[in-house]
Amino acid sequence: MTTQPKFAVIDPHAPADSLEAKQPHVDNGTAVLDKDRYFSQDFKRLEWERLWTRAWLLAGVSADVREVGDYLLFEIGDESIIVVRNESGLKAFYNVCAHRGSRILLEERGRSTRFVCPFHSWRYNLDGELVAITDRDTFREEVICHNPGLVEVACGEHAGLVFVSMAENPPPLREAIGLPDGYLEAYNIDRMNVVRHIRTEWMANWKVGVEAFYESYHLHQVHPETRDVMADLDVQYDLYHSGASRMIVPIGQPTPRRKDQTSLNDGLKFMLADVGIDPETFEGTARDVRPAIQKAKRARAERRGQDFTALTDNQLTDSWATGLFPNVQIGCHPEGVFVMRFLPHPTDPERFYYDTMTMLLPVEAAKPEAPAWMGIPEGMDISGKTRPQCEHLGLQGAKSLGQVLEQDSELLPIVQAGMRSRAFKGQLWGEQEQRLRHFHAELDRYLNGEK
Ligand code: FES
Ligand SMILES: [Fe+2]
Repeated sequence: MTTQPKFAVIDPHAPADSLEAKQPHVDNGTAVLDKDRYFSQDFKRLEWERLWTRAWLLAGVSADVREVGDYLLFEIGDESIIVVRNESGLKAFYNVCAHRGSRILLEERGRSTRFVCPFHSWRYNLDGELVAITDRDTFREEVICHNPGLVEVACGEHAGLVFVSMAENPPPLREAIGLPDGYLEAYNIDRMNVVRHIRTEWMANWKVGVEAFYESYHLHQVHPETRDVMADLDVQYDLYHSGASRMIVPIGQPTPRRKDQTSLNDGLKFMLADVGIDPETFEGTARDVRPAIQKAKRARAERRGQDFTALTDNQLTDSWATGLFPNVQIGCHPEGVFVMRFLPHPTDPERFYYDTMTMLLPVEAAKPEAPAWMGIPEGMDISGKTRPQCEHLGLQGAKSLGQVLEQDSELLPIVQAGMRSRAFKGQLWGEQEQRLRHFHAELDRYLNGEK
């Protein structure tokens, strides 16, 4: 038994029962897993049967289904699922007509009082009941007497996020999410609006995508510009039950890999200016930037009517990158969140879709603005008044995601290709990659039939 490397604790004084507190260590062992899981069709089929059709999956966000009649589609593998808000709450149904199997809804989002099949116009209400069969008297009664409605899928909502599960008896949603009470709620995602939604396709297995966003070990090499402002070695990693995990990355201080921890570099100056502090007259050193930004943000939130009351000072600057098993990471920030999904390609295990929604908390200001580092293009409407369409950008689309994501999207196919080599025997994870091991341990519980 070896000793565990020591990792940073963001606030050593955080009360043990607080959301910021370092969680107890989870030992997920040291095994090297078979690399087949990133390539094989058999493994992909097993994931479909035991993971995707059983686990709770993030189908969308509450902001897209706020009013009665609002619906969204969630597509995964061969399935398309309708999530709709009706008079009794949120419901989900397979998007398939009982008559001859046509998909019923084709738009990603919309509002309707009923669902009409595009083939022979059978009609269903928002409860999924079949309410009209066109030319009913031309059917023999035995064929349609059971009046087949839409087939329901388990659906639940938590902290502004909407989940579905194709399992017959899924576990309670809260238990499956695995995070402590109040964790996601603190960010008020239920009040946020989607201001940007992009889907790009990447040439790698979906797990390679999850893994790249689950560690900060690659920042210094793949994203050198982050060295100015992200303390990539002072990251707090926490593992929760049900495969959930997070890393808290301190932002507003230079990487500890650098000797110089005092001079104000360009990145820090940019961050100060972004919260209204003039970097030229700022009297502190690099070490004083993060607390100064926290203070400025707290004061500004009050002026702007943003509710940061449930967040600690550190949460005002730091990235709480929070993973929900199996395929979601939420980059949690006080002004807004990045909701990222890694969706498997329907047929090719070496492709996935990276689907990301940028959501912002409404601001009581005539001209709302988002933090510059969120990378929202100039001129984009971020008022939340209009919900932008998802931009389907395909294989080359990551170029419009901003520098950091472009760097990741270029690298991941290189990793996928390299892993194919006969010489490569499987990934060797360090403790900065403990979230990867935790994720795969939960994945294996599903695939072994333990879940
Ligand atoms: S397939 Fe839907 S009405 Fe015929
Ligand atoms: Fe990255």
